[in-house]
Amino acid sequence: MMPETTNISNLMNEQRSYPPSAEFTAQANAQPGFYDQDPDEFWEREGRERLSWFTPFSTLKEWNPPYAKWYLGGKINACYNAVDRHVENGLGDKVAYYWEGEPVDDRKTITYADLQREVVKTANGFASLGIGKGTHVGVYMGMVPELVYTMLALTRLGAPFTVVFGGFSADSLSGRLNDMQCTHLITQDGSYRRGKVFDLKATADTAMDAAPSTTTSIVLKRCSNDVVMHEGRDHWWHDVVDGQSDDPASRPCEPMDSEDLMFLMYSSGTTGKPKGVVHSTAGYLAGTSTTHHYIFDIKPDTVYWCAADIGWITGHSYIVFGPLVNATTSVMYEGTPDFPDKDRWWEIIERYKVTVLYCAPTAIRTHMKWGPEYAQKHDLSTLKVIGSVGEPINPEAWVWYRDHIGGGRTPVVDTWWQTENGMVLITPLPGLSTLKPGSASKPFIGIEPAVLDDHGEEIAPGAGAGYLVVKKPWPAMLRGLYNDDARYKDTYWSRFPGVYMAGDGARVDADGDYWLMGRIDDVMNVSGHRLSTIEIESALVDHPDVAEAAVTARADALTGQAVVAFVTLKGGRDGSPEKLAELRDHVGKVIGAIAKPANIVFTPELPKTRSGKIMRRLLRDVAEHRPLGDTTTLADPTVVSEIADRAAVGKDE
Ligand code: PRX
Repeated sequence: MMPETTNISNLMNEQRSYPPSAEFTAQANAQPGFYDQDPDEFWEREGRERLSWFTPFSTLKEWNPPYAKWYLGGKINACYNAVDRHVENGLGDKVAYYWEGEPVDDRKTITYADLQREVVKTANGFASLGIGKGTHVGVYMGMVPELVYTMLALTRLGAPFTVVFGGFSADSLSGRLNDMQCTHLITQDGSYRRGKVFDLKATADTAMDAAPSTTTSIVLKRCSNDVVMHEGRDHWWHDVVDGQSDDPASRPCEPMDSEDLMFLMYSSGTTGKPKGVVHSTAGYLAGTSTTHHYIFDIKPDTVYWCAADIGWITGHSYIVFGPLVNATTSVMYEGTPDFPDKDRWWEIIERYKVTVLYCAPTAIRTHMKWGPEYAQKHDLSTLKVIGSVGEPINPEAWVWYRDHIGGGRTPVVDTWWQTENGMVLITPLPGLSTLKPGSASKPFIGIEPAVLDDHGEEIAPGAGAGYLVVKKPWPAMLRGLYNDDARYKDTYWSRFPGVYMAGDGARVDADGDYWLMGRIDDVMNVSGHRLSTIEIESALVDHPDVAEAAVTARADALTGQAVVAFVTLKGGRDGSPEKLAELRDHVGKVIGAIAKPANIVFTPELPKTRSGKIMRRLLRDVAEHRPLGDTTTLADPTVVSEIADRAAVGKDE
C-alpha cells in the first residue's frame, strides 16, 4: 500500500522559490562546486581537519549492511574536541554559552575556559562516586548548564549515557534505566517550566525504585523545592562536585575508539517499547559538526541558538556536540517561549544579537498564532540564517517565519533527519540552494536517499510519492538498537533489503528537491516529538477501567498532529468528562505529558476485521472527519458510523 500522506503536498508551492542572494553566496561556507566533491574525500578531510585525534583513523568506513563503521582505527575523545582543545588553541575567553534561566535576570555567560573548569570538576566529582570508562549513566535534567557539564564530563570519562527528556514520566525513565542497566542517575531537585517548578527528583525517586541497577544518584539543586534524599543512594551535586580540582591535568580525556558507544537515545517505534538508538563516537562528532558548519554557515562571530531541548536528539547534536566541536558561541534557554511574556524568544535574540535560530515548526506556528507584534517589538536584524526541524513545515508557516522573523531576507533551512540519523541528511545549504517553502531541498553531500514504490522500485523525480530510504551509510548513523539486533534489522532493513527505510513518505520534484510527507507507520509526530500509537494504547489499557483502546493521529494546525484515542470501557460503561480527564492523566503518568490524547472518543466497540484486527485506517478517517473508506471487511459495519457520530460531537479541549 502506498504511504498515506497527511501533510504538505501543495504543488502550487513548487512555483514559489527563493534563490540565494549573491551577497550570501559570496561569504558562504559552502561554495559553488560543493556538491561536486567526492563524498569519501569530503568526509575523510572533514574527519581529519575538523576533529582532533589522539590516534588518527586509518580507514574511512566499513559497510557490512546493515552495520556501518566510520573512521576506523582512530582514538578520540568528544570532550577534548568540544572543550579542551579550544582552550589550548587560545579560545578560552570565547563564549561557549549565553545561558538564560527561565526566571527573568537569571543569566550566565560561560566561556570555553569556564566550561573546561566546570567539566573537569564535574568529571572529578563523578569519578569520586565510581563513574569511569564504561559506566552506564542515566541523565534526567532540565535545560541547565550542568546538563551540558554532565554530558561532557561523561564523555571525558568514557561513560556512555542516556539523557531522558525532563517531561517523561517515572515509568519512561525507569524503562530506560533498566534497558541500559544504568548504575548512576544524574538529576536535579526541580526544573522550571512556565513559572512552575516541576518536581524532577520525586519522579526520579519513583523511577529508581523500579530500576534496581541504579544505585547512586547525584542531585543538582536548582529550584530548592523539598526533596527526600535517600542516605547512601542520593548525593547533592554541590557536595560531590564543588570541592573538586578544576585542573584539566587532574582528569585527562579518556582516549576512546572511534566506534565506542557514546550514548543511547531512546525513541518511540511501532511497538510499546522505545528503542535504544546507538550512537558511537567519531562518526557522530564528524557528522554533527560538519553539517552544523555548512548548513548554518557558522563563522567565528556567529551567535547560534537552537531552541530545542537537550533531552531530544536535536539538542544532543545541535546544542551540545556539533556547535562545541566547532567552537561556536551558542545561546541556551531553560524555559518556555511565553514566560513571562510571549516575546521572550525575541528579547533573547535582541539581547545576544543572535545570528542563527534553529527551532521546530510547532514553535513557529505558535508564534504565528500569537501574532507578529511580539517579534516586532525587538530588533531581529542580526539574524542571518533561520532553520526548522522535527516535522514537516507547512508553506504558510515557512513564509511567515522568513518574513516576520527573518525580515524577508534570511534563508530558511528546513532540515530533515531523525534520532537514528544523528545528523541532518536532507537540507538546503543557505548560499547555494534555491529554497521552496515546504521542501527540505537536497541530500547533504554523500547522502543518497531515494523514494521507492511498494515493489521497491525507485520513483523518478516528479513521478509521485513513496517510501523514503537511504541507500548508503553516513557518519553519524545509528550503529544499531541497543541489545536488539533483530529489531534493528526488522525495523529499518527488512521492508526493502539493503537500504535504510526511514519510515517517512516523500516525493522528489522535477528539480530533485525532496518533499517530506509525514510518517507512514504507527508513529505520530506531535509538536516535533515522536510518539508511538502502540505505546499510548498500552498506557490506556493499563488503566483498570479500559477494555480496549486504539490510537491514531489527526492533523492539527498548531502541533502538526494530535493524538486521538478511541476507548472502550470495561463492562460496557459510558464515558464521562471525568473519565476522559482521568485517562489523559493516566497516559501522562505512564509516558509523559506530551503523550496525553487531545481527544478521547468513548465507544462501545472498536471497528475490527473478521479476524479481529482493529481497522486503524477507518479510525484515522473518523479522527480526521473524512468520509469513511471501505467498511465491507468489518465484522460489524454499523460500529464505525456510531463511532463517527460520537467523534463528530467533538471533544477537543
Ligand atoms: O517524520 C520525520 C520528522 O520527524 C521524524 C524524526 O523524529 P525524531 O527522531 O524525533 O527526530 C526529530 C528531530 C531530528 C522523521 O521521521 N521530521 C524531522 N524533520 C523533518 C521531519 N519531517 C519533515 N520535515 C522535516 N524537516
